[in-house]
Amino acid sequence: MVSAAPRVRIDVSDAMAARIGPRGLDAAAIMALQPQIDAVHAQLTDLTGAGRDFLGFLDLPVRMLAQLPAIRAAADQLIAAGDTHVVLGIGGSYLGAKTLFNALTHPYHNQLPAERRGWLPKIYFAGTDLDSRELNGLLDLLPARGPVLPTSGFTVNVVSKSGTTLETAVAFRILWKRLKTVYGDLAAKQVVATTDPDGGALRQMAQRENFTTLPVPPDVGGRYSVLSAVGLLPAAVFGADVAGLLAGAADMAERCRTADLNENPAYRYAATMFHAQQRGYHIRYLAAWAKGLETLVHWHDQLCAESLGKDGRGPVPIAGMVTRDLHARGQQIQDGSHDTLVVNLVVNRTEPEIAMPDDPGDPDGLNYLAGQTLGHMQRQAWLGTTYAYCQAGRPSVHIVLDDVSAYSLGQLIYMLEVATVAEGYLMGINPLDQPGVEAYKRSMFALLDRPDMAGLRAKMGQLGPDLEQVV
Ligand code: PA5
Repeated sequence: MVSAAPRVRIDVSDAMAARIGPRGLDAAAIMALQPQIDAVHAQLTDLTGAGRDFLGFLDLPVRMLAQLPAIRAAADQLIAAGDTHVVLGIGGSYLGAKTLFNALTHPYHNQLPAERRGWLPKIYFAGTDLDSRELNGLLDLLPARGPVLPTSGFTVNVVSKSGTTLETAVAFRILWKRLKTVYGDLAAKQVVATTDPDGGALRQMAQRENFTTLPVPPDVGGRYSVLSAVGLLPAAVFGADVAGLLAGAADMAERCRTADLNENPAYRYAATMFHAQQRGYHIRYLAAWAKGLETLVHWHDQLCAESLGKDGRGPVPIAGMVTRDLHARGQQIQDGSHDTLVVNLVVNRTEPEIAMPDDPGDPDGLNYLAGQTLGHMQRQAWLGTTYAYCQAGRPSVHIVLDDVSAYSLGQLIYMLEVATVAEGYLMGINPLDQPGVEAYKRSMFALLDRPDMAGLRAKMGQLGPDLEQVV
């Protein structure tokens, strides 16, 4: 029986040599990867692959069901305590939650009157930069002194698995100071900390200050954590269908139980991407064909870059929003260097639709569009763009969602996570660590005079351009 549930599908035919000519991908070579995929599947099911201690994301769709009551309770606490909610975090502790917010709430959520928001708080994200202008702007939106009623109060969810990430910790210290100014001894009630269950500076602070806490599972890495409390608590605060998200992910986990490249969408995607790398397609342009997926492509960018950019190899992911970017990047993809694989993220259904109105005078000459919906026009733009790329021998892969619902997003997120690890294993690298990210942190901490970094600081000498000397 064919299921009526929305389903994420992958179509690779517009990337193949049979469709676009000799620079296309070779379908037989992709299918010939089946033995390697069998080995990857064994590594994932027996938990024997590189980075095996961080494969816990695989069973989050089921494991998190038991934690939903605690997540809902923490969300209720935050919703009741303020009309403005700030989520602090960076990288994997930020992009997943922002993805869900962008996809699953009203596009102008924060501008809606409280009643239209269902009395849920306005949501802001911070802790992603060291930028005074930005943080000052946020502080301007928050009460500066108490007492305040919950209807004008604010709350904070500070998300950091390690509890030591500088950008997040700096922003939290500043907001914690503001919370104490406004709420005095009751400030802790305005905070939830999402962090490692046992260790780290944030966990210690949470215990000392008596914050409500939710755990980031130790066996789940940051960029694979969106289906843990890291993404689910913010989602519950802005009213997303958290259970639907997990159900979609669980359905994709079922589809990923087989190693068969013809059946498993994550492996089909991973094998195609790996083969594309081997054919010289180093740039991977993930294009969102729906505004609600604009942050998801940035989440994918991070997942791909931080997981696969290793040992002098790996694809260069680029996040794009179309049709906007066709007026810029479209030129380069169509006509520039022949190294870009386009991955279109397409949505079948947008509702409610807007149809082009008729204008009897036809002053702009657009009456030929009258009655056509924006969704229809967007679809023709996707098909037309793909046709043009095919004519120029440029490969496109399509990931098609039936809708932008929590259930579909759960499928897509889980599929891309499995596909990324599978591609990493095909490449022979560890897709679950990020040694390169540590290098910048060490030298930054040394320059900031962290006491344990004095040795490195001494070695670094004078840095930065001499403004007297440079042109
Ligand atoms: O994928 C990762 O591990 C990183 O992107 C982290 O999520 C990011 O560095 C934030 O780390 P933390 O949650 O420890 O503050």
